[in-house]
Amino acid sequence: MPTQRTASEAETEQVGAELAVQISPGAVVLLHGELGAGKTAFVRGLAGGLGVKPEQVSSPTFTLIQEYRGRMTVHHVDLYRVAGREIDDLGLDELAAGDAVVVIEWADRLPRPLGGAYVVRITDRGGDRRDIEIDAAGTHAPARPLHSAR
Ligand SMILES: Nc1ncnc2c1ncn2[C@@H]1O[C@H](COP(=O)(O)OP(=O)(O)O)[C@@H](O)[C@H]1O
Ligand SMILES: [Mg+2]
Repeated sequence: MPTQRTASEAETEQVGAELAVQISPGAVVLLHGELGAGKTAFVRGLAGGLGVKPEQVSSPTFTLIQEYRGRMTVHHVDLYRVAGREIDDLGLDELAAGDAVVVIEWADRLPRPLGGAYVVRITDRGGDRRDIEIDAAGTHAPARPLHSAR
């Protein structure tokens, strides 16, 4: 998908809402981008497009995973404050294997890439400008487990 440029938070939400149109139950969306890039804004638009009340969506600061109910259930994960080993305890494998949509901010913290996912990269271009790349190429690949068996 070509890079999409946005010039406001609302436009980034709109790009997220457009992704919601093509998403099916069980989809995994991995978000990359620095602090303040607009990952949560994108998730707000995406969740809104899936029938979730947008005001429910915020950075899950204290809860590492938030659950929203829309046309589909959405699990919103933020790995910013999670150390590597704690990620194993979040049960992301089980979440990703289910019918809910799983959206993960700071996906680069995952111990290994999660197959079959949409990958969203947001880059701050200064001021209110952002570049958003969405790679859906992996979405038909069989999902690989997040963690090897222990
Ligand atoms: N084009 C844009 N897209 C998204 N957010 C923007 C944009 N321009 C400015 N902003 C601001 O950048 C911040 C993005 O915050 P947030 O979505 O929480 O980022 P992240 O989750 O990546 O840390 C908000 O304060 C938002 O108002
Ligand atoms: Mg965020």
